[in-house]
Amino acid sequence: MKAAAIRSFEGPDAVEITDHDNPLVGPDTVLVEMAAAGVNPVDWKILYGGMQGAIPHHLPLIPGWDVAGNVVGVGPAVEGVRPGDRVAAYARKDHVRDGTFAELVSVPDRAWAHVPDSVELDVAASVPLAGMTADQLIDASGMAMGDTVLVHAAAGGVGSFAVQLARLRGATVIGTASERNHDYLRSLGTTPVTYGEDLVANVRSVAPDGVDAIIDLVGGDALDATPELLAEEGHVASVIDPEVKERFGGSYVFCGADRARLTRLLHQVAEGDLRVEIAERFPLDHAKDALQTSEGGHVRGKVVVTST
Ligand SMILES: NC(=O)c1ccc[n+]([C@@H]2O[C@H](COP(=O)([O-])OP(=O)(O)OC[C@H]3O[C@@H](n4cnc5c(N)ncnc54)[C@H](OP(=O)(O)O)[C@@H]3O)[C@@H](O)[C@H]2O)c1
Repeated sequence: MKAAAIRSFEGPDAVEITDHDNPLVGPDTVLVEMAAAGVNPVDWKILYGGMQGAIPHHLPLIPGWDVAGNVVGVGPAVEGVRPGDRVAAYARKDHVRDGTFAELVSVPDRAWAHVPDSVELDVAASVPLAGMTADQLIDASGMAMGDTVLVHAAAGGVGSFAVQLARLRGATVIGTASERNHDYLRSLGTTPVTYGEDLVANVRSVAPDGVDAIIDLVGGDALDATPELLAEEGHVASVIDPEVKERFGGSYVFCGADRARLTRLLHQVAEGDLRVEIAERFPLDHAKDALQTSEGGHVRGKVVVTST
C-alpha cells in the first residue's frame, strides 16, 4: 500500500510517499480503507521525535492518529462492525509506526465508531482527536450550566469543538484568537478576545469577575495568566502542561480512545449541533503540505488528508 512516511526525525520536510506492506488484520483490530485522515499538531511534533520519551517509535514511521473510511477487514474477536461499514477512529496505538496517512489503516477495537450516513467521511475524520479532547477537557474543567468559560486558541481544531461543546452545556463562552478569526468565533456563539500581552485586560473587559473555567490549549504565557483570569472556585484544564495540577490545582488531559464519546460527537455533527470547519484538504500524495500547514499554527478548524 501507499503511505506518507519518514525515515528520520527531521519534521514534515522529510515526509515521502512510499510503499509499505498492508497492515495485518489482528484478532482485535479492524482494517479500514482510508477515505480521510484528520491532521493534528501531534502528527508534525512526532515527525521531529517530540513524543519519543512518551511512546516507543519505529522507523520508517507513518504519522497520523485520526481516520475515517470503509471497513475492509474485521478481526475474529471484534463485534458490532462489518466490512463495508463507515467508521471513524482515534487510531493511536501503543507504538508509533503505522499511522493513518496511508491507504489502509489497522484500528484497535477500542477506537472505532460508526459514522452516521449524513456525515461526510472528511468531516468524520476531523472529529476523533480534536473532538474527544475538547469533550474530555470540558468534563475535566467541571463547568456547569450558566458558567463563563474561557478557551485559549479557540479557533483551532480542539478549540472549535470546545467552544461549541461548552455552549451546548449552557456556558457563556469567551475564546482567544487573532483578529482574522473573530467573526468565525462569533459564528460559533463565542465572544472573541485577542491574545498576547493584553490578554488579561481583554478577558477582564468581557468578564470583569473572571471566568469559572479555563480550557488551555496554549500553555506558556496563557497558562501563566490563570490566577489573574480565574474566578474564586474556578478550575483550569490543560492539554499542554501537566504542571497545571501542581501550579493551579487544575487537570491535565491526554486524549484517550472512547467509542461512546466519539459516537455521541458524530451524532451531534449529524444533527447539526456541532459544526466542523475544514480549512483545507490535501490528497495523500501531498500529506507533507498538510503537515506543514498544521505546523504553521494558524489553522482555522481542521486540515484533512484525503485518499484522492
Ligand atoms: N494532550 C492531548 O491529548 C492533546 C490533544 C489535542 C491537542 N493537543 C495540543 O493542543 C494544542 C492545540 O491543538 P489544536 O489541534 O487545536 O491545534 P491547531 O488546530 O493547530 O490550533 C491552531 C489555532 O491556534 C491558534 N493560536 C496560535 N497561537 C495562539 C496563541 N498564542 N493564543 C491563542 N491562540 C493561538 C490559532 O489562532 P489564530 O490563527 O487566530 O492565531 C489557530 O486557530 C496543540 O499543541 C496540540 O498538540 C494536546
